[in-house]
Amino acid sequence: SFEQSLRPQTLKQYIGQDKVKANLEVFIEAARLREETLDHVLLYGPPGLGKTTLAAIIANEMGVNLRTTSGPAIERPGDLAAILTALEPGDVLFIDEIHRLPRSIEEVLYPAMEDFCLDIVIGKGPSARSVRLDLPPFTLVGATTRAGSLSAPLRDRFGVLSRLEYYQENHLQEIVTRTADLLETGISEQAAGEIARRSRGTPRIANRLLKRVRDFAQVRANGVIDENLADNALELMQVDRLGLDHIDHKLLKGIIEKFRGGPVGLETIAATIGEESHTIEDVYEPYLLQIGFLQRTPRGRMATAEVYRHFNLEVPAE
Ligand code: ADE
Repeated sequence: SFEQSLRPQTLKQYIGQDKVKANLEVFIEAARLREETLDHVLLYGPPGLGKTTLAAIIANEMGVNLRTTSGPAIERPGDLAAILTALEPGDVLFIDEIHRLPRSIEEVLYPAMEDFCLDIVIGKGPSARSVRLDLPPFTLVGATTRAGSLSAPLRDRFGVLSRLEYYQENHLQEIVTRTADLLETGISEQAAGEIARRSRGTPRIANRLLKRVRDFAQVRANGVIDENLADNALELMQVDRLGLDHIDHKLLKGIIEKFRGGPVGLETIAATIGEESHTIEDVYEPYLLQIGFLQRTPRGRMATAEVYRHFNLEVPAE
């Protein structure tokens, strides 16, 4: 699809995550030189930073097929067996949200990862017997927003652990410029920089904002994105100067207005603003922690003085 073609296909096209990229380059090249299957790779970090894209790049660079599934999609051992037995030698199996894999499935996965075999039980009751099936060698690429939620035995079976971090502004600006090129949309350097600054370090957000700003440019202007247009469009979409959206605002203002800045427990915040606690924890909190707007304490979350300044509120006395 076109959406798919916006994604970089090779490590060379992939912008940012320099450390992850440099290491993967070596591991991929070494596996290729030895004509071996690449070791299993665990990609972890906040959503939208390119874990799925990297899995596709790994398969492409290794010259093998990519098979994609997700933790919650695999409900029974038979589901996993069906996927694994359909692999061709060397294929990449991408399991997104691997921390949501049921425990009973994890246990089927261990020998598959370690020895490329599958122990399946055929029949029921006294006539049940266990059969060992050989699998083609494959590379499991797992992705998770929560490395801490993975069981230790599963985590230990990955040979490569790569942590994705929020992107630097200059890298995001490059990504916005690249995507605008692919969309055949004119954009000034300043406008690309403005979108980059307001994308919470996240390419998925940057590209989404770019597309919406482009809509404004097409309908309300001459199709070209300059800084003024980008600024106005982002303002209309309620994306503030730091890229915080209305949910970030609800979260931060909730802590300030209803709990005097905290500390307040995650579940209480979630109930107050009507968002899932998992969504807050996986999607919203990590960036707010990173920019120093939230603090996690043993008694709950606290809004920092920075938040009060950002909202032009008086910073409360200690
Ligand atoms: N589009 C989304 N993420 C990207 C990245 N890291 N490099 C290039 N293009 C991208």
